[in-house]
Amino acid sequence: MLKKILIMASGNGSNFENIVKKLENQVDIELFTENKSAYVIQRAEKLKVKTHIIDFKSFSRDEYDDELYNFLKKQTPELIVLAGYMKILSPKIVDNFKIINIHPSLLPAFPGINSIKKAYDYGVKITGVTVHWVDRVVDTGKIIEQKSVKIENSTTFQKLEKKIHEIEHEIYPCVLKKLLGL
Ligand code: GRF
Repeated sequence: MLKKILIMASGNGSNFENIVKKLENQVDIELFTENKSAYVIQRAEKLKVKTHIIDFKSFSRDEYDDELYNFLKKQTPELIVLAGYMKILSPKIVDNFKIINIHPSLLPAFPGINSIKKAYDYGVKITGVTVHWVDRVVDTGKIIEQKSVKIENSTTFQKLEKKIHEIEHEIYPCVLKKLLGL
């Protein structure tokens, strides 16, 4: 039987689509989103991936956390894969599941949101992508994999953004394969 992973995404879903296309015959993939208008839902429909939605806006924060925890307990995925999931996970969830995340900078530099822009505006000459375990604090968990990219004087922000996403699409499936023993 294939191992099961749950990808959690809140928006665009390019990492979700890339992982599904690269690993669909090797692992059983389902999608979770808390945002019922996320574009990732359309991607999942096209790819025939089962989607679970808990609408964040319909609950108080505590209720949402409980709903999500109970859902995850029932799902029992081998691994939870955050790919642009924009809500903070409760300590109870983080402590009870194996969760990884992808982040568009070389952590611990530029945690949080808009990291590509922050790195670009800061003028760093090297930035990149990090895959890390998720712990109780945002973007601080132990690093699993990193890949760097050089920012030349001629690099525009748009070019950098494109390159970062290319790197994400290259390394996330590789990390998953390694972690799942595929
Ligand atoms: C990626 O840049 C990822 O590093 C960050 O959120 C973005 C998600 O992009 N955590 P997409 O939704 O997979 O296109």
